[in-house]
Amino acid sequence: MIRFDVLTLFPAIFDGFLSESILEDAINSGKLSIHLHNMRNWATDKHASMDDRPFGGGPGMVLKVSCVVPCIEAVQQMTTQKADIIMFSPQGKKYNQKLAEQLATKERLILLCGRYEGFDERVTELVEVEEVSIGDYVLNGGEVAAMVLIESVMRLVPGVLGDCDSSRFDSFSSGNRLLDCGHYTRPREFRGLGVPEVLLNGNHAEIAKWREANSLQRTASKRPDLLEDQN
Ligand code: ADE
Repeated sequence: MIRFDVLTLFPAIFDGFLSESILEDAINSGKLSIHLHNMRNWATDKHASMDDRPFGGGPGMVLKVSCVVPCIEAVQQMTTQKADIIMFSPQGKKYNQKLAEQLATKERLILLCGRYEGFDERVTELVEVEEVSIGDYVLNGGEVAAMVLIESVMRLVPGVLGDCDSSRFDSFSSGNRLLDCGHYTRPREFRGLGVPEVLLNGNHAEIAKWREANSLQRTASKRPDLLEDQN
């Protein structure tokens, strides 16, 4: 069971994501719970503003430390289980499968989704957070990054995926630095293209050997960096 508390100014972004397929099943079966918190509820002025102009001038708006920190503290206190806190930012540690595996062992995570120019710098001085980036590009906010994290972590929680979708052999998982092999299904021939003969002969040892070789070949041609990088 893993609990996510997501702090966002736009909780509706998560609506479709949470109500579809595997994620909905995981929530219904109690393997996962996701709680959305609208940070605006912690705004203190009459306009419910969460952001303000940056000291020193310049473009964009900054999320106010005086709203964000009380919001984090209140959410942290909603259960007795202390959560690790993740702040999404393009400046964070680069997200990968290894980090997903580490996070999947936690019982509770608070996900902080920024907007605008980001959070007032003092948030990270007052609250212990791990800054995480999902890649070297800039998003409008952390919501899409939070969905990436939730989906990749929840696949690793035991019992969330059925046996046939098992994540154990996923590319990038510990002990697997290879891309997946090619997959084929009916029809056996389409527009003159057949499927590798070995997959049709029912010899499981030969099929396993072909799949391993195909994985290696695909990794070497599509992602040669994976064969070099042993970290
Ligand atoms: N917020 C804006 N860009 C981001 C990124 N690349 N990763 C995580 N959070 C972000």
